[in-house]
Amino acid sequence: MTSPAFPARRLGVLISGRGSNLQAIIDAIGAGTLEATIGIVISSRASAPGLARARAAGIPSAVIAAADHPHRDACDAAIVDRLRAAGVELVCLAGYMRLVGRPLLEAYPERILNIHPSLLPSFPGLEAQRQALAHGVCVTGATVHLVDAGLDAGPIVAQAAVPVHDDDTAESLAARILVQEHRIYPEAIAFILGGGWTVRGRRVVKADAGA
Ligand code: GAR
Repeated sequence: MTSPAFPARRLGVLISGRGSNLQAIIDAIGAGTLEATIGIVISSRASAPGLARARAAGIPSAVIAAADHPHRDACDAAIVDRLRAAGVELVCLAGYMRLVGRPLLEAYPERILNIHPSLLPSFPGLEAQRQALAHGVCVTGATVHLVDAGLDAGPIVAQAAVPVHDDDTAESLAARILVQEHRIYPEAIAFILGGGWTVRGRRVVKADAGA
């Protein structure tokens, strides 16, 4: 099925930490390269530095921590309530370090994006940059994908390749990947918001693209 455009172009951004990808989205909106608004930022951690970025941009924010919701589905249901109340059409995970549960997946089917610091399906999960170094790959990168029930799984929207240097540390590699994350995430969000795409096998493609 071909996705329609998202009429309100309203995002909800879920974070757990630093929020540099959130900042890249805020900056792209400010620069006019991403036509969208952020209805709410939700953090899984009260201490996430990204919350200050939301405040500085005048974006409403909330903390919904797993610890306050012993039952996992209740936590996701609370997130859905806040997203819906904010009129969110597309959910963007930006360093959100929790698996997305069923209530959220069912409320936003094919309407949740994630950014991951590797060329998926290589190196899902935590410390993807360290995994890439440990494996000895010469090229790694970043992936934006639609979220499904798997860990860093789901159809791929965009990727960028990043070379691994001989003297890289996990930190230097992460910094180089992050530059690409900040470029491809706003681009991928703009593509999804524009509609006219479909999921073909493992990829998200323009609906009129040749098979
Ligand atoms: C980013 O590198 C993002 O790709 C990664 O966490 C970092 C968050 O940074 N996400 C994952 O590993 C998800 N599996 P940020 O808070 O500065 O955007």
